[in-house]
Amino acid sequence: SNTKKTVDERLFEICELLEKHVEYYNWVGFYFRNGQKEELKLGPYVGEPTDHTIIPFGKGICGQVALSNQNFVVPDVSAQDNYIACSITVNAEIVVPIFVNGQNIGQIDIDSNTPDPFTAEDERLLEFVCEKVSSIL
Ligand code: SME
Repeated sequence: SNTKKTVDERLFEICELLEKHVEYYNWVGFYFRNGQKEELKLGPYVGEPTDHTIIPFGKGICGQVALSNQNFVVPDVSAQDNYIACSITVNAEIVVPIFVNGQNIGQIDIDSNTPDPFTAEDERLLEFVCEKVSSIL
């Protein structure tokens, strides 16, 4: 039988691992560019289902990272004017882009219910994860 894991299965396992092992990671998911459209589409994730399965470039934290090509660490989501709320329990968010051949093709997005939890260590961890993800896409 074919027991080879699909990319989405591997991405889901990464989400599960991160959510399980870092206590302040409460929602962990991937967004990817939706074909040639100027929008992101939700990929594998763990946590509460979100209504925001499509996010236009520029909109929210995720949409801004699609354009900036840079990590975005938000210690307090209530202080952001360009923010898409998925759950009222969320206090903080981190988004790190994924590059394939220098192109920003998606991102990992993490929500935390803890205020101001993210450090440079989280950025380094998630950059490492995104590089690994890049190599399996
Ligand atoms: N808060 C994000 C939207 C995605 S949810 O966090 C899952 C944003 O502002 O882009």
